[in-house]
Amino acid sequence: MASPPFKDKKTRISTRGGSRSFRSQWAMFFRQFMKHPGMIGSVIPSSSQLVARSLDGVDWARTRLFVEYGPGVGTFTQAILDRMHPDAILLAIDLNLDFVAYLEDAIDDPRLRVVHGSAADVRRFVKEAGYQKADYVLSGLPFSTLPAGVGETICEETRAVLRPGGSFIIYQYSRYVRRLIDPLFGQVSDELEWRNIPPCRLFRADKDEALAQAA
Ligand SMILES: C[S@@+](CC[C@H](N)C(=O)[O-])C[C@H]1O[C@@H](n2cnc3c(N)ncnc32)[C@H](O)[C@@H]1O
Repeated sequence: MASPPFKDKKTRISTRGGSRSFRSQWAMFFRQFMKHPGMIGSVIPSSSQLVARSLDGVDWARTRLFVEYGPGVGTFTQAILDRMHPDAILLAIDLNLDFVAYLEDAIDDPRLRVVHGSAADVRRFVKEAGYQKADYVLSGLPFSTLPAGVGETICEETRAVLRPGGSFIIYQYSRYVRRLIDPLFGQVSDELEWRNIPPCRLFRADKDEALAQAA
């Protein structure tokens, strides 16, 4: 059962870069999809129902380092910050420099660290942020259209960076990613969220505490 979210922090959407309306977020997202379809993998951002369901089972009280892959325009980023403990850090990693600049301008929260780079280098980014392990990793990466070998590396590095008992949460339009995570994680749950365009699968892969200690 998830603990209650922390909603009393100094999080705010900045107006420095102008208002961040849904229309401007969608326009930015669509422009980036036209430029890099394989890297973005979707024409519009995820729905609020998918965001809420993805974050439902997170133990927010215990979480001190949350990592997000592919934040894009921040659809999940703000929702994570809204739920996160005041002392926790959110490390958001995106390969697209335009999204990184957009996010840095749009969200003004001292707990957010936006990194330009590949999720394949997550272990280095976590160390540079001053941590050894992450409690949760959430991924919106389009695994089925990533260049050959990249998805495998990202899943292996994710398992390595998670603490025993930590979880890898993945939202995807297909089950393709199961072939990458099933051999690495002790337990994988698989659900479907219809209230998204298109309907989206939601996987949660838990890093088994006992297995991790024996390895
Ligand atoms: C489907 S979009 C997800 C956007 C947003 N999280 C949402 O749900 O609306 C995929 C994101 O993954 C990023 N991306 C693709 N390959 C990546 C990689 N190797 N490392 C980090 N980010 C990557 C893209 O730039 C894009 O922001």
